Amino acid sequence: MNKNLFFLSAILFCLTACGDKTDLTKAALIPQPVSVAANGEAFKITNKTVIYITSESDELKQVGQFLSDLLQPATGFSIPIEQAANDPKNGIWLSLTDDKELKSEGYRLSVNKQLIKLQGNTAEGVFHGIQTIRQLLPAAIEAKSIQQESWIIAGGEILDYPEYVYRGGMLDVARHFFSVADVKVYIDLLASYKINTFHWHLSDDQGWRIEIKSWPKLTEIGGSSEVDGGKGGFYTQEEYKDIVAYAAARYITVIPEIDMPGHTNAALASYAELNSDGKATELYTGIKVGFSSLSIKKEITYQFVDDVIRELAAITPGEYIHAGGDESNATKEEDYITFVNKVQAIVLSHGKKMIGWDEMAHASLDKSTIVQYWAREKNAKLAAEQGIKAIFSPAKKAYMDMQYDSITPIGLHWAGYLDIKTSYDWEPTLLEEGLGRENIIGIEAPLWTETIKTLSDIEYMVLPRLLGIAEIGWTPANLRNWDNYKVRLNEYQQRFKIQGFNAYPFINE
Ligand code: ACM
Repeated sequence: MNKNLFFLSAILFCLTACGDKTDLTKAALIPQPVSVAANGEAFKITNKTVIYITSESDELKQVGQFLSDLLQPATGFSIPIEQAANDPKNGIWLSLTDDKELKSEGYRLSVNKQLIKLQGNTAEGVFHGIQTIRQLLPAAIEAKSIQQESWIIAGGEILDYPEYVYRGGMLDVARHFFSVADVKVYIDLLASYKINTFHWHLSDDQGWRIEIKSWPKLTEIGGSSEVDGGKGGFYTQEEYKDIVAYAAARYITVIPEIDMPGHTNAALASYAELNSDGKATELYTGIKVGFSSLSIKKEITYQFVDDVIRELAAITPGEYIHAGGDESNATKEEDYITFVNKVQAIVLSHGKKMIGWDEMAHASLDKSTIVQYWAREKNAKLAAEQGIKAIFSPAKKAYMDMQYDSITPIGLHWAGYLDIKTSYDWEPTLLEEGLGRENIIGIEAPLWTETIKTLSDIEYMVLPRLLGIAEIGWTPANLRNWDNYKVRLNEYQQRFKIQGFNAYPFINE
């Protein structure tokens, strides 16, 4: 290539890939909004900018404070939140509206030279719009110290709302334990990409992670182990409530999971009476699955389940409890069905609805129950035949613990290698014949942690694939395509770096 041609193509590349910071249609937003129109103007945040609220809603004020706090470290501006009696003509204006098109989680963002106007039917919608504002600002906004930057936001109109009501991220804290601070970072990541559900896998063979006051040995004994012999750990109910509140402030619902009747060795090691033979098992620190089962015939098992669900329901404001049910290979099929039916009744008796992994479709499910499709589409179809909806988290597409490729230093590959394109470039309604839009309540990205030991490991596996799953959950299918996504995604490498995240190096994938 001659030199001139080289520079010309570099400029052309930059015009498309680097994004024109004042052309809203070129913004690298993830998830891609429903509609974006540019007006060629731009708004600049300065030390004079004010956030105005035209509603008495305390919740909206809190959302305004969230925005102010978000902008503070990198800009150095302490942006005040003020109640405005009339429609403001300049600054950042947050308000509640009544606009059918936005549904409960949507927002409308209008930006011109004087004003950023952000409206939602709910404070939640406005909160999602704030994530968009964040992504419209230069990547330096993510810095924790003052940056010399021009804090410009491209002008125009965005109308946006989600495709699916359920958009989840799961973290397994049983195989390896993660601190309250680590879990909060994970929740922040979910919120940044408009994910609204945190599925918290709290118990498994290798560890029991939530304090249950009526069964204290669950954490005394069952909380003391993890994969490879680490020291484990658990959350007190106070810590659990703190995380639930932290998530709620980010419009994320926590769904706790107690996996049963299999994946229960930590409980079986803690209480001999939960075992069919009445003998406590040894703690387990390996990574095999399918070998443990609560005793199905003993009455004490159901007392145990009732106590656990009762205590958990009391500290869980969300409407769902996940009762696991996967890989119960050490439980006879008929016993499994008996067990699931009983557990479902217990969950319902405590005022909650049940979610279970797809195997649960073999039981007689209540209409309010949801299955989580991870392995067998036959199970998801069995659920659909019962009128039960599924959360889609097929391992072959959505499991964040699958290695990117054969040289990924952590992760597993039993469902295949999962590169960024494979994880992004699929459409839930076309994935399995016979399972359509009406059968799918939403999408989730699970992260299992057999080989994931630190927050840095979590970051490596979910960044950037979590963003792809977030877009599948939010953006309508006709607006998603890989060629466009990969250009937007490339802008995030720098953002992750500024955030201090150990993201997988993905440019030019
Ligand atoms: C699972 O991956 N065992 C749900």
